[in-house]
Amino acid sequence: MKIGRLTISDRAAAGIYEDKSGPEIENLLAGVFGGMATFVAEIVPDEVELIAAALRKLADLEVCDLVVTTGGTGISVRDVTPEATRMVLEKELPGFGEIMRAQSFARVRTAILSRATAGTRGQTLIINLPGKPSAVRECLEILGPAMREGLAHLRGDDPHARH
Ligand code: MTE
Repeated sequence: MKIGRLTISDRAAAGIYEDKSGPEIENLLAGVFGGMATFVAEIVPDEVELIAAALRKLADLEVCDLVVTTGGTGISVRDVTPEATRMVLEKELPGFGEIMRAQSFARVRTAILSRATAGTRGQTLIINLPGKPSAVRECLEILGPAMREGLAHLRGDDPHARH
């Protein structure tokens, strides 16, 4: 189980901010997948081509099973994570973003401001999360079952699959 985590932030990439969300993804997913998980970490600024290139690298060269991004899903001028993600996705899974917004809204009314999406590229599942460590936690909490099932489908151990 190889997991890519991609932090998307101008300030974290420039070293102005400490990246807290990337390590938080790693902590939480190590909890979900236990000792089976190994991680590859990347940080890029909010540039559509750099984000798309990092996603392609994690999916195609690193052959990650799962890639989770944090940041750049909002509406600021520099927020382009969903656009870059859609550029590399083969199949979009809008349900991930929909459920994150719906469930998070009960807790934080500003959850509507996230445009996060998800989908697949080859056998890699790619999921956008918002930028704050607390938001990363709140979103990952609810995605566990769908992530595990989605990864099983991509590996080909879908019990319902017709072979
Ligand atoms: N979702 C959860 N669960 N918790 C949060 O605090 N913050 C929201 C939203 N989603 C938030 C959340 C806010 S304030 C913004 S602007 C958007 O995510 C986008 O965040 P991003 O631009 O850092 O990705």
